[in-house]
Amino acid sequence: MPSSAHRSLHKMEILLLPIALYLMQLRARGLESINTLKMPGKPSELKGRCSAAAVTLLLSAVCAGCGSWTGFGFRADGPEMPRLRQVLTLEPGRVVADVGAGKGGLTLALAREVGSNGRVFSTEIDPERLGRLREAVVAAKLDNVTVVEASVSETGLPPNCCDAIVLRRVYHHLTDPSGINAGLLRSLRPGGVLAVIDFPPPFFFSRGSFGVPAKTVISEVTSRGFELLRLIDDWPGRGPLESYCVVFRKSP
Ligand SMILES: C[S@@+](CC[C@H](N)C(=O)[O-])C[C@H]1O[C@@H](n2cnc3c(N)ncnc32)[C@H](O)[C@@H]1O
Repeated sequence: MPSSAHRSLHKMEILLLPIALYLMQLRARGLESINTLKMPGKPSELKGRCSAAAVTLLLSAVCAGCGSWTGFGFRADGPEMPRLRQVLTLEPGRVVADVGAGKGGLTLALAREVGSNGRVFSTEIDPERLGRLREAVVAAKLDNVTVVEASVSETGLPPNCCDAIVLRRVYHHLTDPSGINAGLLRSLRPGGVLAVIDFPPPFFFSRGSFGVPAKTVISEVTSRGFELLRLIDDWPGRGPLESYCVVFRKSP
């Protein structure tokens, strides 16, 4: 989808959702608010109309975003893969790292892209997830994946190992971004690309479990010596919710 159309879709959903929630609240309050506002019509008719309008708006907002939803893990057939192919210049023989691989959906997809002459380093900090990641790699019969145990400050990646590194929805979890960014720089080959896919925190939240602003990522990563290539602010995968991808490069 072109980025301007995607952006207007986001705006439409952002407008629809609060209106729908307000209508539902009016209905739940037994129409007290409607009476106070002296809206025309019988209360029972208004109640019905509010419910119908709320349901319609909610369904429109949700359906508009559902097609791109990959919120419960990476889907190789979802909307992100074609974009990743371009951003990470995926092709057979490339060496890439998936930092904070989680269930490993992205790791497996990357391994298929780079083929048997390429390699994917797949890192995780959580011991249980590391175990499941190893099992997933064995089950997929892939011999081009190296599973790596990470720590809060160390990526665990070898120096100079990778043409590209991706962190998908991981950066906002980092408790020592400075240590991790230093490690990412060491592990990228000169001219290599780092892609950070994440999302801004909602409402008054700042950086934390609910997301991280793109400008924080840009400031922290560039202060460690990376060059900013571009900010893609219409990254797909979270349905009606915002997502971005910041692309950096290690100087050639
Ligand atoms: C929200 S999940 C995202 C998983 C996967 N990247 C995805 O897109 O489906 C975040 C993952 O990052 C891992 N994580 C957090 N801090 C990490 C670190 N310093 N190094 C490696 N993994 C980390 C967590 O254990 C968790 O599995």
